[in-house]
Amino acid sequence: MGFGTFGADAAQAASAPPAAVSTVKIRFTLNGKAEELALDPRVTLLDALRERLHLTGTKKGCDRGQCGACTVLVDGRRVNSCLTLAATVDGAAVTTVEGLAQAKLAAVQAAFIERDAFQCGYCTPGQMMSCVALVDEAKHGMPSAVTADLRPNGPARLTDDEIRERMSGNICRCGCYVNIVAAVRDVAGGSRA
Ligand code: FES
Repeated sequence: MGFGTFGADAAQAASAPPAAVSTVKIRFTLNGKAEELALDPRVTLLDALRERLHLTGTKKGCDRGQCGACTVLVDGRRVNSCLTLAATVDGAAVTTVEGLAQAKLAAVQAAFIERDAFQCGYCTPGQMMSCVALVDEAKHGMPSAVTADLRPNGPARLTDDEIRERMSGNICRCGCYVNIVAAVRDVAGGSRA
């Protein structure tokens, strides 16, 4: 193939109409309400939430699974929504930070305010979703990488080391970690239940 032919092919590709993108239809529960979307199967859950459903409480930090700002719950388990294709939540129950507060602030939200556990606040929705999930994980006896005794032993005790480890997927650029651990401790210990 000569350069002339290649150039003609490239020009034709650039001017050709984009190939039709097929969509998938998904039905799921979002913060307790039924939701239905038809979307490109390549769309992430994060983009579907923010761009299609206008729930902008879930934040896009790194968009590659490193910061935790996009953490939401899918069937009660925390996931990075930037790494989750929206199509995979078909039939699932998704909870975002908007779903935590109904009539009043959820305990976790009150604890973060009381402990001043943020500065700019960008990572805070993800921090709070992780907090809610980790308290539930501990209640069900799920160990972490720093749990000393891995034998089934009832609910896991959330020491500060455990909290730090279990929150380690959520990065805070302002460095509010001491206050975040205090807020999680309050929620885990029931003082904000
Ligand atoms: Fe998903 Fe950073 S935006 S982990």
